[in-house]
Amino acid sequence: MEQEKKVLLDAANIVKTYGKGEGKVEALKDVSLKIYDGELLTILGSSGSGKSTLLNILGGMDRPDSGSVMVDGKDMCSFNDRQLTDYRRRQIGFVFQSFNLIAELTARENVAMTADTAGNPRIVEEVFDMVGLTEKMKSYPTQLSGGQQQRVSIARALAKNPQLLLCDEPTGALDSDTGKQILIELEKLVRKHGRTVVVVTHTQEIGKMSDRVIKVKNGRIVKEIHNEHPVSAESIEW
Ligand SMILES: Nc1ncnc2c1ncn2[C@@H]1O[C@H](COP(=O)(O)OP(=O)(O)OP(=O)(O)O)[C@@H](O)[C@H]1O
Ligand SMILES: [Mg+2]
Repeated sequence: MEQEKKVLLDAANIVKTYGKGEGKVEALKDVSLKIYDGELLTILGSSGSGKSTLLNILGGMDRPDSGSVMVDGKDMCSFNDRQLTDYRRRQIGFVFQSFNLIAELTARENVAMTADTAGNPRIVEEVFDMVGLTEKMKSYPTQLSGGQQQRVSIARALAKNPQLLLCDEPTGALDSDTGKQILIELEKLVRKHGRTVVVVTHTQEIGKMSDRVIKVKNGRIVKEIHNEHPVSAESIEW
């Protein structure tokens, strides 16, 4: 019999609308989604389908109009701003689609700053090695290519060493080889270290390494696939 899986996050009936009147966009329309402890989950969907909106809500970066996100028996939506910041700081690693690096800090300082506030951080030099960017630690974001900035942003999330890592297009700005290296690191976090990783992507191939794939379309979950035998990140080509 299958063991009962522990639910890390339980989002129910999430609605999120931007703007109003003519310009109103219903980014999420009644989305319900559980994230299980120790899984590798891919959220797939075309541009504008609502993936980033959903990830931002799960990570406590944004609030839904209605619905609930239960974490440790509490509804995150009822948290005040300080509680929400606390939750993000303590429990969540976030790789942003737009990197969100601080321009005035070097790559190393960007990563170290996040590691400093984490409960159980990794060593900064180690995470730079993991993303293959040791020689750029002293560079500022504007001195780095898009792919290098993306790797700094991944290093920052890895340094925090959180139980839940939310990644928005983590390979979007990377060539296939570097992207694969990142996927291998994400896979290791789940398979070797028991962490939980959610990857948002357009790239269908990434779904193959996941335990579960959720397809989002027009602000709704339209499909859910369970992968009994995920392939290794090593074998993924795109
Ligand atoms: N701050 C905002 N203000 C107004 N509309 C927004 C805002 N953020 C997102 N939207 C709209 O909400 C919808 C969902 O956007 P979202 O960024 O979640 O899509 P996505 O699936 O992440 O797309 P992509 O793959 O291009 O990153 C889109 O129609 C988008 O235009
Ligand atoms: Mg997006």
